[in-house]
Amino acid sequence: METVVSGIRSTGKLHLGNYYGAVKNFVKMQDEYRCFFFIADYHSLTTHPTPANLHGNVKQVLIEYLAAGIDPEKATIFVQSDIPEVSELYLYLNMNAYLGELERSTSFKDKVRAQPDNVNAGLLTYPVLMAADILIHRAVKVPVGKDQEQHLEMSRTFANRFNRLYKTDYFPEPYAFNFTSKLVKIPGLDGKGKMGKSEGEANAVFLSDTPEIIRKKVMRAVTDAGPVENNSVKPEAVQNLFDLMKVVSAQETCDHFESAYNTCRIRYGDLKKQLAEDMVLATAPVRERIREIAENTTYLREVARYGAVKARESASKTIRDVREIIGFKNF
Ligand code: TYM
Repeated sequence: METVVSGIRSTGKLHLGNYYGAVKNFVKMQDEYRCFFFIADYHSLTTHPTPANLHGNVKQVLIEYLAAGIDPEKATIFVQSDIPEVSELYLYLNMNAYLGELERSTSFKDKVRAQPDNVNAGLLTYPVLMAADILIHRAVKVPVGKDQEQHLEMSRTFANRFNRLYKTDYFPEPYAFNFTSKLVKIPGLDGKGKMGKSEGEANAVFLSDTPEIIRKKVMRAVTDAGPVENNSVKPEAVQNLFDLMKVVSAQETCDHFESAYNTCRIRYGDLKKQLAEDMVLATAPVRERIREIAENTTYLREVARYGAVKARESASKTIRDVREIIGFKNF
């Protein structure tokens, strides 16, 4: 059975980008594969959270994983920092990761722009830690959004380099995966680019947002004055709303607004109202379960402990093998 690994950073509530880019795939994959889904709390340290924030955010992701339908009986759900073997593999892989390639990574360049006062070594070696997360379970499929594609390419590079150096085929090549066969990029509501946590609260619709908040955010989304020519190309902000509609609405709804746009009869107010209602519906089951699960601390603790035991079993086997391959021997 093929192994699947994926994680989400513990940096706050999950949004529709996390859900459609990653978590929805996790839920589907748990029935068919050997799955490990984790909360990437080591990765979140690059932005220096306070201890209280760190713990609260880890808990939030755990709650939302469960609320979205990841089943701890089917998939191994764990917290990254409960598996110290990951940091050991990270150390080994770092010896074969080169400054030039790390500096060229798009996500590193973005971070340098976003946090120029805190360009730490953890940011630089972020893709190496990510490769360690994946390779520690020797996974081949990694359900992620489009923004992680380059990181997966780097994971393959690090895996192959290790294999070449030690003349082994121990690590398989991991690939980014989405059930729809295309990696997705869910746009945000601010008219420019992807939905994200760091792009501001109003840009993202969170799974835990109330219907009122969802309606407010969507109604405020950026649009323009409307098309003046039939079949004209949509400006980015408008295209983004149509792309969001494709994700949450029925095909007939999309067709209806598409044809209204192409014949210059569209009213953006109507489109946004419909989009908001479809988002409210799409997120309703998860939203309700978030509230229920959040109160059950005992259950959360049990899930995290059970997951840590299973993940460590798999990770410690890899570390034993890797130490032997590298040449560490007991006296
Ligand atoms: P993170 O926490 O930024 O995002 C978690 C997952 O959500 C996806 N995602 C999106 N997909 C589509 N459209 C969007 N607007 C959007 N925003 C976020 C991301 O692609 C990701 O799948 N480096 C990872 C966490 C990580 C990881 C790993 C993932 C650490 N180790 C090992 C897979 C395997 C990250 O920062 O994701």
